Amino acid sequence: MSSTLGEVAAEAAGCTKCGLAQGRTQVVFGMGDPSADLMFVGEGPGAEEDKQGLPFVGRSGKLLDRLMAEEIGLARDQCYIANVVKCRPPDNRDPKPEEVAACRPWLERQIQLIAPTVIVTLGNFSSKLLIDTKTGITKLRGQSYPMEGMISVNTVIIPTYHPAAVLRGGGLQEAQMRSDLVRARMAISG
Ligand code: URA
Ligand code: SF4
Repeated sequence: MSSTLGEVAAEAAGCTKCGLAQGRTQVVFGMGDPSADLMFVGEGPGAEEDKQGLPFVGRSGKLLDRLMAEEIGLARDQCYIANVVKCRPPDNRDPKPEEVAACRPWLERQIQLIAPTVIVTLGNFSSKLLIDTKTGITKLRGQSYPMEGMISVNTVIIPTYHPAAVLRGGGLQEAQMRSDLVRARMAISG
């Protein structure tokens, strides 16, 4: 039995497996091409994402769209964008370990069904989770990692900064994020 991404999304739309269900407007499952070679994974929906039901539609998302277009030559409907947790944490606090654990099966099913060549993890949160490490993003970025442990797809992980950190941090971080995206482009084109 295998379900499609759309079926999994419909199932997730009613999810109440953790406390984040209470404060959300809607589940932000993810968007893009279900057979994309490239997937981005962020942390969790913010206010604008919660309102629209779509990932990365605020300021961070605008930057992500621009850098993705300039460095990889792709628009957001040519890749797939998701988050570690699918419901907005109140006041944009970090998701709690039990919330991440409860939500993880949704992300795993997304990754299994999409089976992307490359996952770009955006920021500490998704990078540490998917690479399964305690090392921070500044040390992690600049190389690629095999996807291990979580699920058995032949996917490499390329960690980079969260676009919100680039918006705060400025030039150096933006240049490093651009070079991480170039690495992703090269990995996709094989
Ligand atoms: N930040 C995230 O991590 N994800 C979003 O969808 C938006 C902002
Ligand atoms: Fe379900 Fe994830 Fe939302 Fe928690 S955050 S209610 S596990 S979809």
